[in-house]
Amino acid sequence: MVRSAAKKIERVKGTRDFLPNEMRRRREIERIMRDVATRWGYEEVQTPTFEHAELFMLKSGEGILEEMYEFYDRGGRHIALRPELTAPVMRMFVNELKMARKPLRLFYFGNCFRYEEPQHARYREFWQFGAEIIGADTPEAQAEVIALAHEMLKELRISASIEIGHVGVLRDMLKCICSAYGVSLSDAEENRVMRLIDKGAREQIEDFMRHKGIHEDALNTLFQMTELRGANALDNAYELLESLKSNSDGLRELEALSDVLAAYEVPFTLNLGIARGLEYYTGTVFEIYASQLEAQRQICGGGSYRIAHIFGGYDVPSTGFAFGFDRIAEIFEYDAPPQLKVIVIPVYAKNASPERRKELLKKAIRIASRLRTDFITISDVLGRSLSAQLAYADATGATFAVIIGENEMKAGEGHVTLRNLITGEQKTAHINECISMIHAWSSNKNR
Ligand code: HAM
Repeated sequence: MVRSAAKKIERVKGTRDFLPNEMRRRREIERIMRDVATRWGYEEVQTPTFEHAELFMLKSGEGILEEMYEFYDRGGRHIALRPELTAPVMRMFVNELKMARKPLRLFYFGNCFRYEEPQHARYREFWQFGAEIIGADTPEAQAEVIALAHEMLKELRISASIEIGHVGVLRDMLKCICSAYGVSLSDAEENRVMRLIDKGAREQIEDFMRHKGIHEDALNTLFQMTELRGANALDNAYELLESLKSNSDGLRELEALSDVLAAYEVPFTLNLGIARGLEYYTGTVFEIYASQLEAQRQICGGGSYRIAHIFGGYDVPSTGFAFGFDRIAEIFEYDAPPQLKVIVIPVYAKNASPERRKELLKKAIRIASRLRTDFITISDVLGRSLSAQLAYADATGATFAVIIGENEMKAGEGHVTLRNLITGEQKTAHINECISMIHAWSSNKNR
């Protein structure tokens, strides 16, 4: 054997290969999610894998920009591999669908790219399954998308906790605290603080605000708000806002949302510390966590946002979410049902003329094609011996072999030998009879 001196090429860091078993599990998750989304009246869309980088620079926020895969193409265009799908879907909406009757209910499934430090359940290429309701950010719309995400998890038999917050409340509070000190933060500065809240980086918030002339004491109410979680969160949040004389519209929105979610019978926890990593959110936000996953527990993120006007459309309130599909795949329990597979085995006599071999091969191809209308069917392509083909059938997990040799050629048009590879029984018969026998065996076994 000649040994290749070529270097083995590895996968790019943060990417994965999916082997057949894993693909079966992923396709099953996709099937379930797609089925639920469709039953809820959402329609599938697909956008390009890469976009003008500008699309993500306008409103996604620095967190996303730092991780973006970007390059200049041969035409000098600044391009980015999509880090998420909400901005592309909204670009598509502005370009193609802005005249459509609203609200529009869309869903998508696609790969995304973020230059993050890879670790378990955090990849540089990952998949999102998401849904957007475009043209509505009412508590009813918010409740609908949260209930949709909940229903998907229910159908996948995944237990997870839904936590709901409000970025409007946090932003208003921050403005209030700053204005008490005569300080006004620029949009970029406010976004920076929101990112730090999202990361739970309290000391960095204090450092930044001290630098702006705001003392830690004043920030205590903000930190108290970010720690509010659970049954009394709303009452306590009202009290905090009252002490600051800050706007409480966001809390009223959360109250209304809680009522609608109760009608959907969706369990959730209020968590006023949720700030989200993306900057386009305007109101209610939510995250879903699965405790089975350790460090990367967040399996879904979403909320209400407005970005269409930034892409040249008019201001359209929208609400949506995206599941981290790979994290779902990590915890989805699935036993792939056994697949009934048939192998067609042409057996050539040693002294067969080239014409006879051709005739036999033609019959094998015709028989395989007939079998494929009912079963997964594979056929020999290497001209191997009967024993080599049977060994291959065993290795590939075939249940039935359909043997076609000289005897079957002589037995007449459409005649083959069917061998049950589990019981060893075999019979020479017409292919139609063989197909009925395979069906009968299979339904007997599944009973
Ligand atoms: P996101 O929270 O950035 O939101 O991403 C959604 C989900 O994608 C996360 O909850 C997480 O499960 C998964 N995810 C994010 N980064 C990675 C990674 N590096 N590896 C594996 N999984 C990851 C968005 O992208 C928004 N567009 C969601 C949305 C839709 N908001 C409104 N509509």
